[in-house]
Amino acid sequence: MKRRIGIIGCGVIGSQLVKSIQSETYRQEFDKKAKLVALCDLDEQKPRRLCKEFSLSVSICGVTEVIRKSDLIIEAASAEIAGEVAERCLKKGKDVLIMSGGGLLGREDILELAEQKKSHLYIPSGALAGFDAAKAAGLGRIFSAVLITRKPPKGLEGAPYVLENKIDLTDIKKERIIFSGNVMEAEKAFPQNINVAAGLSLALDYREITVKIITSPQFKTNSHQLILKGEFGELAIKTDNFPSPDNPKTSYLAVLSAIATLRDILGYVRVGT
Ligand SMILES: NC(=O)c1ccc[n+]([C@@H]2O[C@H](COP(=O)([O-])OP(=O)(O)OC[C@H]3O[C@@H](n4cnc5c(N)ncnc54)[C@H](O)[C@@H]3O)[C@@H](O)[C@H]2O)c1
Repeated sequence: MKRRIGIIGCGVIGSQLVKSIQSETYRQEFDKKAKLVALCDLDEQKPRRLCKEFSLSVSICGVTEVIRKSDLIIEAASAEIAGEVAERCLKKGKDVLIMSGGGLLGREDILELAEQKKSHLYIPSGALAGFDAAKAAGLGRIFSAVLITRKPPKGLEGAPYVLENKIDLTDIKKERIIFSGNVMEAEKAFPQNINVAAGLSLALDYREITVKIITSPQFKTNSHQLILKGEFGELAIKTDNFPSPDNPKTSYLAVLSAIATLRDILGYVRVGT
């Protein structure tokens, strides 16, 4: 039976997923295993444009309908709705892939719900490398975890922390640490920038991650550097990601990670942890 797939959020990640599904290289393989059945966005024009561009005949509907029509729901909308979407999907026994991992912080109940309902909750590694090692390392004691995110000022625009503290990003002329705190504080301060920290916290089962956010107009990439110390030893890893042209907050690697996770879910061969 083909898996029926619905996407909530047709911004950078959602629309790139649709493009990948429709691409010459992947389409045949995808069509054998799955069918895109529903798209949803607060801005209806976005799914409409995708339907037109790719001649899709799928439902354009609200969240409830997407969940009803699909076997696998992909959330690529916002941390604000991620927890609710995951909960509603899992309660109905549907599998769900969450891109806005920040919305799952402090929601251990949702992880338990997936176990109870025997439905899958997928959280892609997104823009950070090292999840394979972090998952293994988390099985032993973790002594410290530091995540240093470096983004150009544009990638931090509109963040609650920037607005509340009236930080003028255009006034920043050289490298500046604009935030340092734990993962829960970081999620509130930078909900659109901190999904990797949230995913990492879940992978490690560790809440004491220190998050530092550094910006500079000289930065051209979104970089994430993880420094982990624990019983296993030490790990230091860094990705330097090109921002997506349509949304500088989102690294292109996060888009590719969503696509790779979908391919893993539908495929029979899985390479890596
Ligand atoms: N895990 C990671 O590494 C990672 C990396 C980048 C982005 N993200 C997260 O993934 C999500 C999508 O990222 P993006 O770059 O595609 O963002 P985007 O802003 O380009 O697109 C989000 C889309 O979702 C829609 N939307 C927002 N709230 C909605 C709602 N309640 N119902 C329906 N539609 C809604 C918006 O209208 C927009 O079109 C964001 O929450 C982002 O923070 C995660």
